[in-house]
Amino acid sequence: MEIIIQASAQAATEIASRTIAHVLRRKPNAVLGLATGSTPVQLYKLLIDMNLDWRQVSTFNLDEYVGLPKAHPQSYHSFMWANLFKHINIDPQNVHIPDGNAPDMALHCLAYEQKIRQAGGIDLQVLGIGTDGHIGFNEPSSSLGSRTRIKTLTRQTRQDNARFFGNEDQVPSHVITMGIGTIMDARQHVLLAFGPHKARAVALTVEGPITAMVPASILQMHPDTRVYLDPEAAAQL
Ligand code: GLP
Repeated sequence: MEIIIQASAQAATEIASRTIAHVLRRKPNAVLGLATGSTPVQLYKLLIDMNLDWRQVSTFNLDEYVGLPKAHPQSYHSFMWANLFKHINIDPQNVHIPDGNAPDMALHCLAYEQKIRQAGGIDLQVLGIGTDGHIGFNEPSSSLGSRTRIKTLTRQTRQDNARFFGNEDQVPSHVITMGIGTIMDARQHVLLAFGPHKARAVALTVEGPITAMVPASILQMHPDTRVYLDPEAAAQL
C-alpha cells in the first residue's frame, strides 16, 4: 500500500484525480470501478473539469441499494448520473451499476461479474471506506474472497447513511455489492478517506492484521493500492 497524506482533502483529491486522468489518457477504453458516498464527490468534479474523453471508457459501480427505485434521489444510480455521468461524454451503454430491483438477484449478480470479465477486468477501482472498514458494501465478516452478491447492512452503516435519508429507518436494509474478491481483481485501487471519523478504520486497514472484521485490510495484499488521506484521517497511523 502506498499512503499519500496531504494537507487537505482537496489536495489529496487533486492528486488522486491526476492518477485517474493518467489511466484514461494512457488507455482510452479503460475500465473504471466507481464508488459513491460523499468522499468521491469532489473527485468527480475535478475529473469533469479535466475534459477527458470518456467515449470508450466503461464503468462498473461497486454497489446499489436493494428495492430503491432507480429514480430515487438516494439511489446510487441517481448519484452517479447527477455527480458524474451527465457531465461527461460517456456512452450510457458502457455504464454499469448493479440493479437493486433485478427480478432475479442471484442471476443479476452473476451477470455483473461476467460483464466485468468481458470488459477485460477493472483497470482502476475508486474506493471510499466505511467507518467500520467496509469497502463497497462489504460489511465486517464478509468473506475476503466474496463476489458480487446481496448483503445486509449493519446498524452502524445504516446509522452512518441515515444523513442521506432523513432517518435510519428509511435506509434500505439490503444492498448489492461487488465482493471483496471482485474488488481485489482490479489492477489498481485509489482509496480516499477524509475526516476524523475515518481515522480508526484507516489505521486498522493500513496497520492492523488482515481480517474479515476490517474488510479493507485485505488491500494490504494488493500490489497497487494507493490510499489518499487528509491529516485527520491519518491521525491514528
Ligand atoms: C457507503 C458506500 C461506500 C462508501 C462509504 C463511505 O457505504 N457503499 O462505497 O465508501 O459509504 O461513505 P462516505 O464517503 O459518505 O463517508
